[in-house]
Amino acid sequence: MLVKTAEEMETLGREIGATLKGGEVIELIGDVGAGKTTFTRGLALGLGITSPITSPSFTISCRYPARGGLSLNHYDFYRLSNPGVVAMELAESISDPRAITVIEWGESIQDVLPKNHIIIRINYMPDAGRTVEISGYDYSTTEN
Ligand SMILES: Nc1ncnc2c1ncn2[C@@H]1O[C@H](COP(=O)(O)OP(=O)(O)OP(=O)(O)O)[C@@H](O)[C@H]1O
Ligand SMILES: [Mg+2]
Repeated sequence: MLVKTAEEMETLGREIGATLKGGEVIELIGDVGAGKTTFTRGLALGLGITSPITSPSFTISCRYPARGGLSLNHYDFYRLSNPGVVAMELAESISDPRAITVIEWGESIQDVLPKNHIIIRINYMPDAGRTVEISGYDYSTTEN
């Protein structure tokens, strides 16, 4: 889909955030400045989070309490080739049915991700905004 502005990206995030039940793992794929954190900001709104979402680039992970006892756990592994102990924290978040796990720059932790995670791919379109593709794991083509 075409997402023309940052505001529209936030709205998309908010609408998806409103549907989440806990246990979801969302990997955000897109270049620097694509809008991954902007999307996450919207997701947080949909989860009833009022505190500001900042990019976790330096802290690697941020945790926000959300509606109904859920939490949003936001990770950013940018340029982190060896995630070390954070990979264990991530694995815990993924297995927590009350947590929504969102990951930016997840190349180095692919082996920790469940196969059935949600992938949101954001593509920068010169002068046109962004395109967003949402996909899950395709069980029809790969062995589980
Ligand atoms: N259609 C759009 N969707 C999302 N962001 C947009 C759009 N148009 C402009 N922007 C702007 O692009 C920037 C996206 O920054 P953001 O921090 O969300 O990117 P990011 O993918 O998280 O980057 P990084 O990899 O550095 O973490 C923001 O300044 C936002 O306002
Ligand atoms: Mg970001």
